Amino acid sequence: MNPDYLQATEGFSENIEPILYANVKAFYYGNDLALHNIQLPIYKNYITAFIGPSGCGKSTLLRCFNRLNDLIDNTHLDGEILFHGRNIYHPQEDAILLRRYITMVFQRPNPFPKSIYNNIAFGLRVHGHKGNIDALVEHSLRQAFLWEEVKNRLKDNALSLSGGQKQRLCIARAIAVQPEVILMDEPCSALDPISSNQIEDLMQSLKANCTIIIVTHNMQQAARVADMTAFFNLEMKEGSRVGELVEYDHSSVIFTHPKHQVTKQYIQGSFG
Ligand SMILES: Nc1ncnc2c1ncn2[C@@H]1O[C@H](COP(=O)(O)OP(=O)(O)O)[C@@H](O)[C@H]1O
Ligand SMILES: [Mg+2]
Repeated sequence: MNPDYLQATEGFSENIEPILYANVKAFYYGNDLALHNIQLPIYKNYITAFIGPSGCGKSTLLRCFNRLNDLIDNTHLDGEILFHGRNIYHPQEDAILLRRYITMVFQRPNPFPKSIYNNIAFGLRVHGHKGNIDALVEHSLRQAFLWEEVKNRLKDNALSLSGGQKQRLCIARAIAVQPEVILMDEPCSALDPISSNQIEDLMQSLKANCTIIIVTHNMQQAARVADMTAFFNLEMKEGSRVGELVEYDHSSVIFTHPKHQVTKQYIQGSFG
């Protein structure tokens, strides 16, 4: 880790080495600036929440961490993202391999239209996994708190599951390849409260082995699950509204005595 990057962090700096470090000078969709001047360390085995009003760039920043924005035409990152101190945007880095280590769970559960079993086995085979696939499918489903509900119907189509079960299946699929980081973009916003609670419990159990970044609109959820919280807002820049990082700290600080008035107003529901 280059200490210059840590010094560049104006906000919070934990006294441990970050697994990921975002140094985003600018991020563009075509000519439109979406993110500006964001320096953010992400700590290993922590759950980090991204909060802020719609359009402030939370999803955009999340997609920078596994280069998913590469799949959107005409996007450009000015800056770098360090993963274990290596810039993942270096021309010699392999974005597809990277996504095996940094996986994504989306807002709408998106299982493949295949059997429950094959939703997990497929990814393992794609990544060339050798060994006992049955055992790994079971292990992943157990880790995702889904095994008991599906163990007698592994051949059923995944699309026959409930919304919460589908999302836990997507998480099982994401963790089957044993990623180091899981990116979750509003993973509970399409789920009922009971399913959301199950996902929160699941996140708590996964963080022993993984680092998790979650985008959420639910302040209670962020306060409950996240060790660290980053609050983003929109500022006027080059005549348009651009996402900026306002404040980053332990969730206990962000949700009880944030340093910035605008953070307080957002948390209290005054806007957003
Ligand atoms: N695929 C895209 N193409 C063009 N502009 C986009 C795209 N995705 C997001 N944006 C724009 O980037 C800004 C940030 O969006 P986003 O990252 O989705 O914010 P959030 O997740 O915080 O709601 C918004 O102005 C949005 O319109
Ligand atoms: Mg979003």
